[in-house]
Amino acid sequence: MHYQKNENDTLAQINVWKRNGFTVGFVPTMGALHEGHLSLIRKSKEENDKTVCSIFVNPTQFTEKSDFATYPKTLSSDINLLLKEGVDMLFNPAAKTIYPPDYKTKQYDLAGLDKNLEGHLRPGHFQGVCNVLDRLFKIVPADRAYFGQKDFQQTVVVFHLCKLLGIQTDVVVCPIIREENGLAMSSRNNRLTDELRKNAGFIFSSLIQLKQYFKQGNFKQGIDSFTKNISEHDGANLEYLKIVNMQSLQETDNYEQKSKIALTVVNYHGVRLLDNIRLD
Ligand code: PAJ
Repeated sequence: MHYQKNENDTLAQINVWKRNGFTVGFVPTMGALHEGHLSLIRKSKEENDKTVCSIFVNPTQFTEKSDFATYPKTLSSDINLLLKEGVDMLFNPAAKTIYPPDYKTKQYDLAGLDKNLEGHLRPGHFQGVCNVLDRLFKIVPADRAYFGQKDFQQTVVVFHLCKLLGIQTDVVVCPIIREENGLAMSSRNNRLTDELRKNAGFIFSSLIQLKQYFKQGNFKQGIDSFTKNISEHDGANLEYLKIVNMQSLQETDNYEQKSKIALTVVNYHGVRLLDNIRLD
């Protein structure tokens, strides 16, 4: 596996591969890798000749300093996982490589996609994601880039960004990988005790129940019982449950409409747990 920290060497290696006719897949991450990340890597390896993974904890997308400071860092075990998966290159830049001293933070016109849901609770978060991806896509001009459905709003923002910037990379969205109890895997799950982590399956089971109610046309009952299910768990606070259109991310109360997704964040003993389920 090539281990790169430098912008020019990374780009040069990608260009060598491309000149030799190899297709390149790219999996951007912030490390603390788990099966969710590895599923993206496996998909990339299936679909491309070469797979590049980046690990960079991007300061500009954190709205809380303490969240950035305590973000898990497990580089040596991450490297072992990447070696095991047969990844061709790890790009692991320093902050000054991505944001040199003369870097000017950009504001992208995201047509409001960054304003609601996660964007409302974490203002500036998606602008930070776009700043880092703009840089990463230039350094790793891959044929395809892989993102997880778990961060659904992020995938919609990334599609928009690629169109806006004319980025040639195709965006591929991969399904949510879950723990045995249904909890969506996340680097932040490490912040739960083992016992809480085992209990946290109620979020996904509540989403499945919501979907069943929606299938029967019992929309209000579905939403009410979701809210009640969550509140019945000690230490669980529903930050939001929103039923939105999958393309526009606009909230809808026309529940008969096609292309809907339920997005939720539950704060469980101080840890924000994101999840979602398609409703049709
Ligand atoms: P990170 O949280 O490390 O996630 C990297 C990728 O893994 C994202 O596309 C995310 O959606 C995906 N992922 C995380 N958990 C998953 C799961 N349980 N199942 C499937 N995919 C999962 O998302 C980021 O980093 C950053 O915002 C980044 C795009 C790297 C920009 O800094």
